Parts: sequence; structure tokens; C-alpha cells
Amino acid sequence: MSVISVVGGQWGDEGKGKIVDTLSVDAELVARYQGGANAGHTVYLKKEKIVLHQIPSGILREKCICVLGNGMVVDPEGLYDEIKLVLSKNISIEGRIVIAQNAHIVTPIHKAIDFDREENLENPIGTTGKGIGPAYVDKYNRVGIRGIDLLNIEILENKLKNRLRFAKINNEITEDKIFKIENEIRNYLDTIKKISKYIGDVYQIIDSCLNNSQKILIEGAQGALLDIDHGTYPYVTSSNPSTGGISSGLGLPLHKISRHIGVFKAYCTRVGEGPFPTEQDNSHGEKLRSIGKEYGATTGRPRRCGWFDLPAAKFSVKINGLTEIALTKLDVLDLFDEIKVCTSYKINNEEKFLYSEVMCNLDEVEPVYTIFPGWKIATVGNTHLENLPGKAKEYIRFLEENLGVPIKIISTGPEREQIIEK
Ligand code: IMP
Repeated sequence: MSVISVVGGQWGDEGKGKIVDTLSVDAELVARYQGGANAGHTVYLKKEKIVLHQIPSGILREKCICVLGNGMVVDPEGLYDEIKLVLSKNISIEGRIVIAQNAHIVTPIHKAIDFDREENLENPIGTTGKGIGPAYVDKYNRVGIRGIDLLNIEILENKLKNRLRFAKINNEITEDKIFKIENEIRNYLDTIKKISKYIGDVYQIIDSCLNNSQKILIEGAQGALLDIDHGTYPYVTSSNPSTGGISSGLGLPLHKISRHIGVFKAYCTRVGEGPFPTEQDNSHGEKLRSIGKEYGATTGRPRRCGWFDLPAAKFSVKINGLTEIALTKLDVLDLFDEIKVCTSYKINNEEKFLYSEVMCNLDEVEPVYTIFPGWKIATVGNTHLENLPGKAKEYIRFLEENLGVPIKIISTGPEREQIIEK
């Protein structure tokens, strides 16, 4: 059986949850390798919307084991809420959730630092406020708290005390917050006792799946353009959402992965700050937002909306080594008179076709568009490619030809069944 990765090709929120849910029907294991509670993966179970932030989407499939890999920064309180949510849907999780012993753990201190930093930055990043950056800073500073530390509450309590003292000395948080954080830590320790049983040896689980040729799905969070190395720095997240992060974030060698599926929306969105060349801060953007229900699954913030950015997508195909594409939310474009695709950028009176040429000056480029006539026919719920309107097929063909990899999946609505598999 195969090992398949599903990663975000744009700025996140591409609809990875639904694609993972679809592909996990016969998977033994679904694993997250980076990020944390900043993600918001929306999946539908019998028309009911479920938003998962940390538990991989495979949890909705009865037999699937869900791994939170070492590359993640796990938020125990968020995770416990999610576990309760899943249980409330009568889904059994017995033996199905494993947190890597060496995954890093987000604490109330990290969340407070994230919040204070954003408040005080001249150019805030627009983070999700989930403590992601500060938790990764501690990881690389070699002072982080890891999954294994949750197994000894006394040692953990000590580490938290020391970290808080350090935060105070270094003015990472203001004095007036200390009392509140101390209180939060008390509740936090209670939650830790409830989730520490999920800490386990992920290496063995992955190895056993590989040895028994069982299907493994790797679920990315965020997207390639938010990658700390390849993204629109500094307006990025603090991990490697692109496929390069899989190997370090799970201990799974990249050559074991047979398919890399990049998920792209049929247009573009972005939450938080940072350059976004094809952004439509106008009625088109509002229409995309309202039809596409483009509000952050984690923070509820309205997403910035714009047209498909082909040079950025091609870059994403290359750095991720994508073998195929899943195109989502095609139906959102159904009512547009015309649909634009950015095919190059203009900067200093020169036309640039390569994203990498302009990626460090992205806020200065002007997009050059190719315009497509809208199909103005409902594609919602369509399950067969041949039933799509000709103009929609043309749009898909154009993207496919230019991206150089096949679009194998087209999502035509939020529900499980609303999908075309080529
Ligand atoms: P952080 O990951 O919370 O530190 O946020 C850094 C940037 O990444 C901000 O612009 C966030 O809005 C963005 N971001 C983080 N997670 C997601 C996601 O799952 N989808 C879309 N944007 C995200």
C-alpha cells in the first residue's frame, strides 16, 4: 500500500481536511508533521460540520490511527477540547490517537508571549494567537517542553515555573499577566493529566505500517507559501508545511512517499498579514468571501480573497515535488462573469514569470492576468468531470497544463460526496 502526502499549495485553508477525509477511507494511519492548533481542518460527517485543529482528519474513519508527529507543537488544552468534540459524535478514539514523545508542547506562557509580541510589533504578523511561534522558538532554543515531559507532572511543573521566571526576566510578558498565567497553569496541569496517556512511540507505529505495506496518509497544515523557509517571510508560520517538513516532522524518509498531492483552491485566500498579489479588495473579493464562506476556521477572521496565482502555484508544485493536484471549491466560481488567473508579474516595467524571481519583493509586483469567461452554471455537487460545463473544464485544463501535473481530484462542495476523482 502507498504512503501519500496531502499538503497545502497556497496560503493554507485550501480544503486539505476534506481531501484527507476522502483518501483516508482505507488508510491505516493519518499523521500530522508540523504546526499545531493554528490549523483548522473542516470536514463534514453526515452533513454535520466538524472543525479539527490538531487531530488528523482520519479520526472520522473508525479504524484509522491518528498521529501527532514530533514536528508539531501540540496544544494540550485545545487537543482535549477536540477529543471531547470527537467523542460527542460517538466516534471511538480508543487506541487511535498517539502524540509523539518528542513533539513539542504549547503552554499558556507561549500563548501569552504570542499575544504580547503581536501587540507590540510595529508590523504584526497576524498570527492565530495559538502560541505557535514562541513554542517553536523554545524548541530551537533547546528549552522546550516535549511530550515525554507530560509523563512526570512534578518535572513538568518545575519546567513551567522556570520558563515563567525566564519570561519575566526577559520581559517576554508583562508583569500584570503573571498572576493570570499562574492560574492558567493550574488548569493546564489538570488537562495534562487527561491527555498524557496519548503519548507514545510514533517511530514504531510508522515502521510497522511501512513493513506491513499499510496505507499512510500524511496531512499537512497551512500551506507552502506560509513555509518558514520558502514562504512570504516574515509573514509565515513557524514550521515547514511543505513536503520537506515531513521527513524531520515524522521521521519518515521522503523516498517512502509515492504520491504528493498538493491542494489548491480554484482561487486564492490568505489570513493574516503579508503580500498577496492577486488580492481583490473589492466586490469580487467580497463575492468570493461570501460564496466561499471564507472565514478563518481557527480565529473566525475574514479571509482575504483573490484570483488564482499561477507563478506562485508553479513554485509550490516544484518545491513540494507534487505528483498531482486536488483543486477545491470550484463551485465558488459558478456565478462569476469572468474569472482571472495571474500568469506573470510586472515589476519595474519588466514582466517576470518565475515566482522565485520576485518572492522577496512580492508586495511590489503587479499581477498580469489571463481572463476566462465564467461558466455561470451550477457545478455544486458534481461528481463526474464530463458533466462539468465546458468553460469550467477549460479553466481546469488551463491550470493543469500550466502547472505541469495532473489535477486528479476536483472538489465541488463541502460534503464528502461532492467530489470528482479523475
Ligand atoms: P501562526 O502560525 O499562528 O504563528 O500565524 C502565522 C501566519 O500564518 C498568520 O498569517 C496566520 O494567519 C497564518 N496561518 C497559520 N495557520 C494557518 C492556517 O491553518 N490557515 C491559514 N493561515 C494560517
